[in-house]
Amino acid sequence: MTNLTVVGVSGSPRAGGNTETLLRHTLGVCAAEGLSTDFISLRGLRIEPCRACRTCSRSKVCAVTDDVPAIFDRLAAADAFILAAPVYFSGTAGQMKCLIDRLGYLSMARGRVFERKVGGPMAVARRAGQNFALAEMMFFFLHQGMIVPGSTYWNMAIGLHEGDVSEDAEGLRTAENFARNLAWTLKKLRAAD
Ligand SMILES: Cc1cc2nc3c(=O)[nH]c(=O)nc-3n(C[C@H](O)[C@H](O)[C@H](O)COP(=O)(O)O)c2cc1C
Repeated sequence: MTNLTVVGVSGSPRAGGNTETLLRHTLGVCAAEGLSTDFISLRGLRIEPCRACRTCSRSKVCAVTDDVPAIFDRLAAADAFILAAPVYFSGTAGQMKCLIDRLGYLSMARGRVFERKVGGPMAVARRAGQNFALAEMMFFFLHQGMIVPGSTYWNMAIGLHEGDVSEDAEGLRTAENFARNLAWTLKKLRAAD
């Protein structure tokens, strides 16, 4: 076990859904690689949209008093984090998009706190739209100056009903390879610090 930490954020509102299943599988491999893992589900949390009030730019504190600031603190304390979302109408489900907007502005206001952390996106759909959802989340990681390891395919899987994703062997394998590359990258980076 290392003292390196990775947090996984599931953007699905469904208990035991496919996003959560895929993300837990990924975190399991991260743990096997020696990382400490933490899991956050947005289900049931209050994730309001950014109000564009710029309070964070002035005071470094978000004006919205919901569950986002606590999530921000957990991600800011981690070495790596993964954002995983279900695909809704060919893009990232709304809760995740709201989270990204809020995290991004707050991070910039506080001096780009996610810079050089490791991370990456994951997306699940019944059939199509993962590429758009992955791109939405990927643009966030790149904008924040984060380092995104690859895998043997893009981090996507398919499933409609809760748990279906467990039948997607290639999706699971891609997630495992992403997790191994994430752990490898993180260890190399921290060893070089
Ligand atoms: C509002 C809504 C929109 C959806 N849009 C899409 C879509 O555009 N493409 C697709 O393949 N599946 C779509 N789905 C199916 C979900 O992506 C799929 O059921 C996925 O497994 C949900 O992940 P979860 O179990 O983690 O909640 C949609 C589901 C909902 C509820």
